[in-house]
Amino acid sequence: MEDVYARRQSHDLGSRLYRALKPPDPFIRNPNEPLHFPLGRWNLYVGGGGSQPEGYINIDLFALPGVTVAADAEHLPFGSGMFQCIECDAVLEHVRHPDQVMQELSRVLAPGGYLHLVTPFCHPFHQYPKDYRRFTLDGLKQLAGGELEVVAEGWRTGPTATLLVFVSEYVKLWLPWRPWRILAHEILGWLLFPFRYLDLLFFRSNRVGIMGNHCYIWLRKR
Ligand SMILES: C[S@@+](CC[C@H](N)C(=O)[O-])C[C@H]1O[C@@H](n2cnc3c(N)ncnc32)[C@H](O)[C@@H]1O
Repeated sequence: MEDVYARRQSHDLGSRLYRALKPPDPFIRNPNEPLHFPLGRWNLYVGGGGSQPEGYINIDLFALPGVTVAADAEHLPFGSGMFQCIECDAVLEHVRHPDQVMQELSRVLAPGGYLHLVTPFCHPFHQYPKDYRRFTLDGLKQLAGGELEVVAEGWRTGPTATLLVFVSEYVKLWLPWRPWRILAHEILGWLLFPFRYLDLLFFRSNRVGIMGNHCYIWLRKR
C-alpha cells in the first residue's frame, strides 16, 4: 500500500509525465448525492490514507501521509458516541468483516450523528490491500441494522461509468507490459471520458441500479 501511494506522489519523470497526461475520470458524480451533513467537534474519516480530509480524524490500516491514527476499522480505538459525522468511502469492500466494522462505526457515532457509506457494486477488482466483495443498496441497508435509519440513498456513479471502467480494464488485460497498460489507460481515458455524461440521464431512472458503479447511503443514529 505504501508503494501505491508513494508512486502517486513520486517526482520521477515517468510519474510526473503520467500525472500531466492523466485523462479525466471515467465517471461523473450524481449531483443529487448529499455530500455533507453537519460536522461536529469530532468527526471520523475511515480509510483516508494519502489524503488530508479537513475537520476529520483520519484513520487507515497503514500510517500513510495524512493519517491521524493507524487502526483497523474492525477495532476502533475510540470511545462510544464520540463522533458527530463519519465518512466511509470505498472502504467496506476491503475489510474482512463488514458487519464488525458497521458495529464499530455505529458504536462510535453519537446519537443524532450521521454516517456516509459509499461502496462499489459493478467495479473491477482493486486491492487496498485486499478486495473481498461488492454491495447493492439493499445489502448496505441490511448491514446498517436497526440502530441506524436511512436518511438518503442512491447511486454516486452510474452504468456508463461501469461500462467505461470495464472496457479500459479489459483492454489492459491483453497487454503484458505495464508501460503499455499505462499508455492504453491514458489513450482510452481521453477517448471515452465524454461518454460519462450519459449517466446524468441514468441518475433519473430507477433502473440505474442494474449496473450502477458505486452506491451510497446516509444513515442517522437514532
Ligand atoms: C479504496 S481506498 C479509499 C480511499 C478514499 N476513501 C477515497 O475514496 O479515495 C481504501 C482505503 O481503506 C484502507 N483500509 C482497508 N482496510 C481497512 C481497515 N480494515 N481499516 C481501516 N482502513 C482500511 C486502505 O488502506 C485504503 O487506504
